[in-house]
Amino acid sequence: MNFLEERIMKDGVVKEGNVLKVDSFLNHQMDIKLLNEMGEEFKRRFADKPINKILTIEASGIGIACITAQHFDVPVVFAKKSRSINLDGEMYVAEVESFTHKCINHVIVAQKFLTPADHVLIIDDFLANGCALQGLIQIVQSSGATVEGIGIAIEKGFQSGGRIIRNLGYQLESLAIVDGMNAETGEIRFREQ
Ligand code: G4P
Ligand code: NA
Ligand code: NA
Repeated sequence: MNFLEERIMKDGVVKEGNVLKVDSFLNHQMDIKLLNEMGEEFKRRFADKPINKILTIEASGIGIACITAQHFDVPVVFAKKSRSINLDGEMYVAEVESFTHKCINHVIVAQKFLTPADHVLIIDDFLANGCALQGLIQIVQSSGATVEGIGIAIEKGFQSGGRIIRNLGYQLESLAIVDGMNAETGEIRFREQ
């Protein structure tokens, strides 16, 4: 097991409905040393890529993205979520369906922060169905920038997002892939990578 899998075993809590709570160290309270190790690991896995910008989505991707960005020495842009949009013509917009909240959100990035010259690493905390991620990819494509890779903390391997994104040909690196969980026993099964 790697450092993140070990931490998930120690402090993650399996909830009904295939939900993994990691709010004591990842997406509510944040263990900065752990996030820093994650940043180092992303840097190692994407070392050969000419990354000049990191893109994430509010809210819980931002912390991981910022600490990762210190290892790449690049700026972070975070996409904003909005139920409605005032299209002033200077935004890239993608529609994202939330399975959890059963609604459509718009994901927005100002055009001035993504250009065809950019080589982007996308970072997020969770990958489940991959709707948010597909919205971010669509925004990068709209801008003419290049997606150099995608770094995820925890992928839920039993949901479809990871397979869809890998089939599109992207280098998707998930630090932990959960292939199964049991809310009654608390058991968590990781994919061997
Ligand atoms: P998708 O983008 O992969 O399709 O995600 P989905 O709609 O399935 O999930 C909605 C939200 O729930 C996402 O956060 C996602 O990160 C989060 N999520 C999904 N599965 C789990 C889980 O097992 N545990 C935890 N803790 N979160 C999970 P969000 O609402 O878009 O963003 P944020 O504001 O929390 O960052
Ligand atoms: Na997120
Ligand atoms: Na989240």
